[in-house]
Amino acid sequence: MAKEIKTIGILTSGGDAQGMNAAIRAAARAAMNKGVTVKGIMQGYSGLLRDEIVDLGAVSVGNIIHHGGTVLYTARCPEFIDPDPEKAAAAIKQAADNAKAHGIDGLVVIGGDGSWKGAQKLSKHGINVVGIPGTIDRDIACSDYTIGFDSAVNIALEAVIRLRDTSGSHYRCSVLEVMGRHCGEIALWAGLCGGADAILIPEHPESANIESILQVIRENRSRGKKHNIIVVSEGIPKLLGLTSQQIAETIEKETGIETRATILGHVQRGGIPTAVDIKHATMMGVYAVDLLLAGKNNRVVAYRDEKYVDFDIDEALAMKRRPSFDIEEVNHRVSTYG
Ligand code: ADP
Ligand code: F6P
Repeated sequence: MAKEIKTIGILTSGGDAQGMNAAIRAAARAAMNKGVTVKGIMQGYSGLLRDEIVDLGAVSVGNIIHHGGTVLYTARCPEFIDPDPEKAAAAIKQAADNAKAHGIDGLVVIGGDGSWKGAQKLSKHGINVVGIPGTIDRDIACSDYTIGFDSAVNIALEAVIRLRDTSGSHYRCSVLEVMGRHCGEIALWAGLCGGADAILIPEHPESANIESILQVIRENRSRGKKHNIIVVSEGIPKLLGLTSQQIAETIEKETGIETRATILGHVQRGGIPTAVDIKHATMMGVYAVDLLLAGKNNRVVAYRDEKYVDFDIDEALAMKRRPSFDIEEVNHRVSTYG
């Protein structure tokens, strides 16, 4: 017999992402409307461990749908990944005990795949868990979409467009570093849509070959182009052993073209979520609650082939991500002309 869920907890974990509030609102409303009590856990697993759990009837989820950030706050919880496995296991057990003491029998975890690993471990302590993909990085294998991605990409794209104006006015080259520690999706989308000369992504270390970047810049200049945009994913400087500023200096030194570097940083994680993010967040929030109410455990919600689906967490975490190499390929074909 499926476990009957009377109280659910909701938490956000890992890096925040635009749309997390919409997911919190949707999950809370869907549960409350089925007579389920809803608790908010502050600051992700850290709050669960510190027993910072509030009644979401009291903390309203009204008027948050359109706000960036997360009203539940978020955090990384180092105790869950303590290098000493006994300490990590004790922290996870303590967190599960705290949840149970509040009557929480179902938990919605909004975060990236790191957060899902924490959820997977909590589920072994008798709490039914469902994960929702929430990260601007769009780096989760089982899902074609992660909440926050569209908002972040559009901020990165706007930066490319603004740089094109100033870069073009001065016949300069601009190097723009966007977020994505291990994942080049933001760089690929912003680069393709912004008409970048080159896009450097960590999944494809060959893209970070300085000689080939110099060649693209020189070729494009010889064809009459008056400015250049190079989009660099955050993971690249580590791979290359050069900061984005140093990449810009190298380009300037080798080509004689004045070059400026811009590191966009955390502005990509703030501001009003786009309709795409609010829509996915709302659909996934409700889907997650439906899974819990159906007695499901150790599941994640995903968006795949234009449908909302769910997977077992273990299965989801074992899947291999498919980076958008097609975007990279197409950008190569359209970033030079003549
Ligand atoms: P994201 O969820 O965006 O991938 P992180 O990888 O930083 O972000 O993970 C968020 C939190 O999830 C971590 O701080 C930790 O508390 C928890 N977590 C990550 N990996 C594990 C793991 N292997 N086991 C248990 N908990 C984990
Ligand atoms: O949210 C994902 C992400 O933006 C990565 O692309 C980035 O490397 C990381 O988070 C940085 O987050 P923080 O500064 O919060 O550690």
